Amino acid sequence: MLHVNPNISRISVSAASSMTAKARELADKGIKVVSLSTGEPDFDTPQHIVDAAIRAARGGDTHYPPLDGTRALKEAVRRKFARENHVDYDLNEIMVGNGAKQIIFNALMATLAPGNEVIVPVPCYASYADMTRSVGGNPVLLSCGQNNGFRLRPEDLEGAITPRTRWLILNMPNNPTGTVYSRADLEAIGEVVERHPQMWVMTDDIYEHLTYSDTPFFTMAEAVPQLKDRVLTINGCSKGYAMTGWRVGYCGGPKSLIDQMLKVQSQVSSGICTMSQAAAVAALNGPQDIVGTWREIYRQRRDLVVSMLAKVPQLSCHRPDGAFYAFPNVAGCLGKTTAGGQKLQTDADVSLALLAEQHVSTVHGTAFGMSGYIRLSYATDMESLKTACERIQTFCAALH
Ligand SMILES: Cc1ncc(COP(=O)(O)O)c(C=O)c1O
Repeated sequence: MLHVNPNISRISVSAASSMTAKARELADKGIKVVSLSTGEPDFDTPQHIVDAAIRAARGGDTHYPPLDGTRALKEAVRRKFARENHVDYDLNEIMVGNGAKQIIFNALMATLAPGNEVIVPVPCYASYADMTRSVGGNPVLLSCGQNNGFRLRPEDLEGAITPRTRWLILNMPNNPTGTVYSRADLEAIGEVVERHPQMWVMTDDIYEHLTYSDTPFFTMAEAVPQLKDRVLTINGCSKGYAMTGWRVGYCGGPKSLIDQMLKVQSQVSSGICTMSQAAAVAALNGPQDIVGTWREIYRQRRDLVVSMLAKVPQLSCHRPDGAFYAFPNVAGCLGKTTAGGQKLQTDADVSLALLAEQHVSTVHGTAFGMSGYIRLSYATDMESLKTACERIQTFCAALH
């Protein structure tokens, strides 16, 4: 009999991957599925980035990499933080990991004792809660309602803090809502955090480059500089540079924390693939115009999706300010029966029935900690988005 670590029994495989797997099963049977469940850019990595990796491989950069990242990449990260976020980190305050995901895990693993709490505003990326559980901590999920633009209210944060609180995890632009926090929002949250020295803030800025409103992007260490020695600023190449497969994430934070995170990484994976690091240097140091071009394309896709969903009486969809997800409320579908005779009790029923009957894959909101919603990724071409939204319209029109 297999004895499973009780902490691992508390977690599950990501809902987005299981929906994508279900969509793939249908596609393998020859069914034309429109997949809106995956959270990754549909663009290919730009050629100059790929070329840098090939040059590294051909040039013999094929040995074990330094644990914390190559000097060239750490310097590129330092310049990026200074250039785009106006935050200065020393090289020993920066580390590189296998995606932002490993950085988040390293930080939680390095700092949480059993029973410590991590405040996670929801809806959010599901991994924050599961990673916290996997290392013996307890996620404290704080609901951020649509009526407040899915933003965390400082008074709710204050009410959730206990002596056991170790982290607040912020993610903006947010997966799944696209919410972006203004400088004033961050200052108000920072004021609360400042009063509680037992807690630090992790900001996951992986969608930083994908913002569509006039509000400029701010990260916590920039908006509230007096908190910088309690902030871990996390970012990576996956979303902004269409580099999900390269697995490069990075962060800046106090050396005391980075040193502990490096211990974790040294025992789990060692340093990051050398060719990927060379590619990341080219991404961060190279021309940035492609990021702006893609941002404009995503904006048009967002506008198409939001306008088509607005025509569906059973749905209400806010206009996301960033990332590449729409998060419509599906409460109007619940209690109804589909054309195929499926009674819809939950958001998961909606998502599954949409896949089974209209071949559109989405992820149910409960997977992100908020029921009554579904998440659609608009990181795909306009034609597919139009087809998907038409199918959603057909699905909803047939509900009775
Ligand atoms: C909010 C958020 N953080 C982190 C990640 C993972 O990023 P990476 O590919 O750098 O591990 C994702 C991926 O979907 C995400 O949505």
